[in-house]
Amino acid sequence: MRGDAALRPQYLEALGIDRWMARRPVAAAAPQAGGATGGWDVLAAEVRSCTLCGLHATRTQTVFGVGTTRAELLVVGEAPGADEDRQGEPFVGRAGQLLNSMLRAMRAPRETVYIANVLKCRPPGNRDPAPEEVRCCLPYLQRQIDLLAPRLMLAVGRIAAQSLLATDTPIGKLRGALHGFGTHGTPLIVTYHPAYLLRSPGEKRKSWADLRFVQRELVRLRAMPPATVA
Ligand code: URA
Repeated sequence: MRGDAALRPQYLEALGIDRWMARRPVAAAAPQAGGATGGWDVLAAEVRSCTLCGLHATRTQTVFGVGTTRAELLVVGEAPGADEDRQGEPFVGRAGQLLNSMLRAMRAPRETVYIANVLKCRPPGNRDPAPEEVRCCLPYLQRQIDLLAPRLMLAVGRIAAQSLLATDTPIGKLRGALHGFGTHGTPLIVTYHPAYLLRSPGEKRKSWADLRFVQRELVRLRAMPPATVA
């Protein structure tokens, strides 16, 4: 397998970060979701036919989410862009390529996680989601979280972080802490959006610190019985 060992240094070099050697073995990839459960099928069908906000009128298609339904890590972005709207899958454009590198670098490649967005439809012209659109769409993400029951969530970007945590605190202040999402207090870490990192490569070093935080938390949370995870 030409796996992380080969790819990670490329990402770290692209970030301008010193090479870092793993002490732990690479975790085996979780199997891809084969047949979705009834819950997933019902939810996906609801999202496909959603007309709760005005975005349904301009979308090509909804973008539900992708990955294994057995994922420990749920990555949450903002909303589909033009590429995602065309292909029906989150993070398939340039930002998606960088997200894939980030996931590989932290030994959680795309096929082992679940990826979804706060909004399931593209805001025209890639404008920020309107509060009303977030209000309409968040319950779908909440139901995805209920079905997935991830150990850890990674909010990428200001919009995802602020929407999930119901705050207007700047992303720079949300990074570096373990937050709790929703009524179950699902552990949540915040990092920069890959599209922002493409525009501001100087921030990539901080994003790598966030990804290492995710790695450490996953190890810690795996060691905890579910009842004590908060
Ligand atoms: N940006 C996001 O936040 N989500 C996507 O799916 C694509 C780009």
